[in-house]
Amino acid sequence: MTKISDYDMFDYDYRTYWENREYENMAEKILLERVFDKTQGVWFLDIGGSYGRLTSTYYNRFSNPIILDYSLKTLQKNKEILKSKYKNISLIAANAYNLPFAPNSVDGGLMVRVLHHIEKPATYFKEIARVMKYNSPYIQEFPNMIHIKASIRELLKFNFSFFKQDSYKQPTRNNFEGVKEGVEGIFLNYHPKFLNKELKKHNFKITERIGCSFLRLQFLKKFLNVDSMLFLEVLAQKVLSWTNISPSIFLKTSSQNHKDKKEISYETLEDMLVCPKCKEKLTFPNPTTAVCSKCSTSYIKDQDIWDFRVK
Ligand SMILES: C[S@@+](CC[C@H](N)C(=O)[O-])C[C@H]1O[C@@H](n2cnc3c(N)ncnc32)[C@H](O)[C@@H]1O
Ligand SMILES: [Zn+2]
Repeated sequence: MTKISDYDMFDYDYRTYWENREYENMAEKILLERVFDKTQGVWFLDIGGSYGRLTSTYYNRFSNPIILDYSLKTLQKNKEILKSKYKNISLIAANAYNLPFAPNSVDGGLMVRVLHHIEKPATYFKEIARVMKYNSPYIQEFPNMIHIKASIRELLKFNFSFFKQDSYKQPTRNNFEGVKEGVEGIFLNYHPKFLNKELKKHNFKITERIGCSFLRLQFLKKFLNVDSMLFLEVLAQKVLSWTNISPSIFLKTSSQNHKDKKEISYETLEDMLVCPKCKEKLTFPNPTTAVCSKCSTSYIKDQDIWDFRVK
């Protein structure tokens, strides 16, 4: 069984993480606005989308956006705000490893600040590749294990093998995001070469690479205000994205799966839902229950949120 970073276990409120992180928050939103640019489509998946921090960047570009997250409590807690701000948004509690969507059904997708909780990236990429349509844009953010601070730290330890390896595991200490102090969570950083290889293996063509949060240095925040930091950030995103110095990297990709397959236009969310376990069709005995036609598992919709969480 694949381990999941379950934010509900300790009632972790992810919103609190963003207090006093205006620079990092805006750096990502500016980047996404630019990357999405004129992109348009129908079904959009924000995987591990939490309370919709990034929804403003894709909402007006895709007619049917979906926030999918394993934390049912986060979705329930933020439902009212999200639905009043974003009328067309759908909320689904599900596991990124077991998506409840038909193959070749999604027009666009994004995963930001979630891959560090995904200990089997190949399994996840296989699953996201299954649902994305041919040529659809998919943006994958990842924490870069060889960013400048980590590289200097390892150089000072004469740990030269750090730079050669292209494996992806790097446990982080003192990070309690999603868990409580003293409990070991799933935190992984990735080598850019590893990510490139994995995405290509799963038929995602990388069309753009942008570094992010170049100025994530505590001392800079003491000297510069947010506007000045963002001015420099935008500049750095433009001229330094070819380097590996930033702590976070966004890859814009285009899914090359399902070429030559017939595209189906799904009108409603229920039309495109499948059993997340066996991917078979669902029947709907009533509007708030879905039953798998193969394994007979039932799934419930409560407070307008489908619960498709499986491990
Ligand atoms: C650090 S937060 C990032 C939230 C959002 N993407 C953002 O950038 O603001 C990580 C989110 O990923 C979700 N998550 C972790 N593992 C997951 C999984 N296997 N499937 C779905 N969601 C998952 C958590 O519940 C949490 O909401
Ligand atoms: Zn089933």
